[in-house]
Amino acid sequence: MNLDTSPLQTPFDLKQLSLRNRLAVAPMTRVTATPDGLPTATMQRYYQRFAQGGFGLVITEGSFIDEAWSQTYENQPGMASDDQAQAWRPLTAQLQASGTRSIAQLQHAGALSQFNRYRPGQTIAPSAVPPRGLQMPFYRGEGAYPIPRAITQEEMADVVAHFGSAAARAVGLAGFDGVEIHGANGYLLDQFLTAHTNLRTDRWGGALPQRLEAAVATIQAVRAAVGADVPVGIRVSQGKVNDFGHKWAEGEQGAETIFGTLADAGVDYIHLTEFEAWQPAFGAEGPSLVQLARRFAPGLTIIANGGLHDADRALQLLAHGADLIALGRGALSNPDWPRKLEQGLPMKAFDRSILGPIADIKASELAAA
Ligand SMILES: Cc1cc2nc3c(=O)[nH]c(=O)nc-3n(C[C@H](O)[C@H](O)[C@H](O)COP(=O)(O)O)c2cc1C
Repeated sequence: MNLDTSPLQTPFDLKQLSLRNRLAVAPMTRVTATPDGLPTATMQRYYQRFAQGGFGLVITEGSFIDEAWSQTYENQPGMASDDQAQAWRPLTAQLQASGTRSIAQLQHAGALSQFNRYRPGQTIAPSAVPPRGLQMPFYRGEGAYPIPRAITQEEMADVVAHFGSAAARAVGLAGFDGVEIHGANGYLLDQFLTAHTNLRTDRWGGALPQRLEAAVATIQAVRAAVGADVPVGIRVSQGKVNDFGHKWAEGEQGAETIFGTLADAGVDYIHLTEFEAWQPAFGAEGPSLVQLARRFAPGLTIIANGGLHDADRALQLLAHGADLIALGRGALSNPDWPRKLEQGLPMKAFDRSILGPIADIKASELAAA
């Protein structure tokens, strides 16, 4: 096979951030922080393998933003306090020293919280709608999700403000090069976006533009907190961890509204995750979500994710208009995916046992580097 993989290996500037190639590690929750949300030495070793393996960018796992309702999983790292943020610093410094840039993903669970040490047993969401699906056992969850309480206007103002303060901590104290707002996969901001989980009739609910208000306000708060120069992105998806096959009901027109609105709100990049990123976004044919984002948010950086661990698929998504390719499972199996690509070495297939029975970082994983 004589694949020209050089498009994946060319440098890229995300604002003032120089990336050595187009390859990013996708955010992956590994529930290996301390019980009070401090990143650990094990996490540092785990992330460092991706830097040594040649990834230009690491987007770290979703960190909760506040000491209220945002925590999603037991042993999830936080960005909710100065102590939590400072504990990230050795990790980001080591990535930096290896020539790899880091972006912190900031997450609010909303109705999908499976554990919260600050507000045990209760969840909040746009509306009191029972979540679909079941909690994830590999994140120590069991059975149905609790029925959430509808968030108040005051609490919503706090959520937005807390995204801002967490972003300021991520950059100022934790040493990250940028921040990614988690707007995907069924968590709080996606619950606002989705009609059947957002039944509100106030500023935060209604037609699609109103359902995007939570994301817009969050982007504006984060931008105000970190300033104009720091890269700020948002991750969006159609599918959800608890509703895998969900599609945006408004189709391509909805995609136009979503991408246009997010761009106008002031993000630098949109990170799209689909099960198979090259597939038509809606129905059996037509453009992929990346192609639609390229069309409707022409000035933004686009990160593509979803089943792109084969180099030919990754190249295909660059051709669809993506600037960067994020790998999840491919990076777990091959923390040195970029080096292997460069040297033409075979990639390992994904082995689900890495994530079982609990998705925490395994000693065997670190040893196999
Ligand atoms: C163990 C694991 C943890 C994940 N945690 C997160 C997360 O914290 N934030 C997020 O946005 N996506 C998360 N994801 C989704 C991945 O970022 C990615 O979208 C998904 O694995 C599909 O990409 P892939 O086909 O390259 O694996 C997680 C996926 C896995 C496998």
